[in-house]
Amino acid sequence: MNFFLVEALKNFKTSGTVAPSSKHLVRTCLKKIDWEHTHFILELGTGDGVITEEILKHGRKDLTLISLEINETFFNHSKEKFSGDHRLIMLNDSAFDIADIIHRYNLPKPDIIVSSLPLTLFKESEIILMIQTIHDNLKEHGTYIQYQYSPVTLKFIKKSFRR
Ligand SMILES: C[S@@+](CC[C@H](N)C(=O)[O-])C[C@H]1O[C@@H](n2cnc3c(N)ncnc32)[C@H](O)[C@@H]1O
Repeated sequence: MNFFLVEALKNFKTSGTVAPSSKHLVRTCLKKIDWEHTHFILELGTGDGVITEEILKHGRKDLTLISLEINETFFNHSKEKFSGDHRLIMLNDSAFDIADIIHRYNLPKPDIIVSSLPLTLFKESEIILMIQTIHDNLKEHGTYIQYQYSPVTLKFIKKSFRR
């Protein structure tokens, strides 16, 4: 069995999948980003770094990308994989701690938050808190990109994000 499958199965409640996102899915998620005018991206749920890799491929030379991953095995794997790219700050921290992390690094609010968090596996109170946290920590007129295999959490997202 491959690395991602083994780790994802061991931690299905937090990984929410058994395979990394496909190239097609990753490109679809990122296709509307205006790379030239994007200086800071926050990624939630690095996994084995398929989205991270595509962001680093297109991002500016002076981009700041912070990527958060709670699973230690995925975190170590991705930290090692992208160790040569100084634009990336990989953290073994939870997405619920966004505000602290931005404060810790003395950064402005991100232009874009890209999330592959498995929201459908979160408790309702956690979904509401997560979306509110994302909303409150995103730059004004910034973009929140969230992929989901099911539309059940869309109603929560729409409450905080009218567009
Ligand atoms: C569906 S996987 C996506 C992985 C990868 N980005 C991809 O697209 O293939 C979700 C990832 O989010 C991570 N995750 C779940 N809850 C998290 C949290 N509260 N904070 C940070 N990462 C979390 C999981 O460990 C898992 O790696």
